[in-house]
Amino acid sequence: MPSVMIIGASRGIGLGFVQAYAAADGWEVHATTRTLNAPGELGEVPGDVTLYELDVVDAGQINRLAMAFEDRALDLLIHNAGVYGTNMSRDLVLTINAEAPFYVISALMPAIERGQEKKIAILSSQMGARNGGPTPANVYGASKAALNDRFREVEPEWRDRGVKSVIFHPGWVQTEMGGAGATLPVADSVRGMRQVIGGLRSDVSGKFLDWQGKEHSW
Ligand SMILES: NC(=O)c1ccc[n+]([C@@H]2O[C@H](COP(=O)([O-])OP(=O)(O)OC[C@H]3O[C@@H](n4cnc5c(N)ncnc54)[C@H](OP(=O)(O)O)[C@@H]3O)[C@@H](O)[C@H]2O)c1
Repeated sequence: MPSVMIIGASRGIGLGFVQAYAAADGWEVHATTRTLNAPGELGEVPGDVTLYELDVVDAGQINRLAMAFEDRALDLLIHNAGVYGTNMSRDLVLTINAEAPFYVISALMPAIERGQEKKIAILSSQMGARNGGPTPANVYGASKAALNDRFREVEPEWRDRGVKSVIFHPGWVQTEMGGAGATLPVADSVRGMRQVIGGLRSDVSGKFLDWQGKEHSW
């Protein structure tokens, strides 16, 4: 039975991933939330779903999550958690969006290496793309640019270990972060990214893709 871990699943795109994998045949779904005592809609998803408490800036919680998988395998890790950063310090936004994903991934890497599929997907944003220009001035864009830079540094090491990974722009998605003007339903974005992840081969590893699998410029 294939297994997936979704980091940051309380709402929005992360919740959409949980719903989609839990409804798909044969998936064992693991998902994290900062509010395990009040999981809301996440606690009601039918299927083989196990929840864990995780704030991605809490090293103790990352460690506990890794311990829960010390003898287990994960086929796929989706790091979705992120913040836009309104009313937050620049340092905290950078920590959550650009640093935490690599702490979480490295803590779970042994479980991923034990998996059959050995796949990682990280949610970034087109707002982190420089497109040949300077680093975006806005803190959210700067944090996603830093995430993309670090991904490009470490991905070759992951690939050497047999792990295939991509970074996604999920589209302008109808979530709290996406806001009122967002055009893309969560289910459509998630369906597109699941299809890309399903067909992910090592020659695609290391790319920045949109939700439809189209390559995005850095
Ligand atoms: N929506 C868009 O149009 C869009 C576009 C481009 C990229 N993205 C990216 O896609 C991802 C998901 O976005 P979304 O639209 O679904 O956002 P969202 O609705 O605001 O949800 C964000 C998720 O991240 C979790 N999270 C935030 N800080 C966390 C932390 N410190 N530890 C653990 N979990 C944390 C939230 O948990 P809580 O409920 O506990 O806060 C929530 O589950 C993000 O990385 C975002 O940057 C979104």
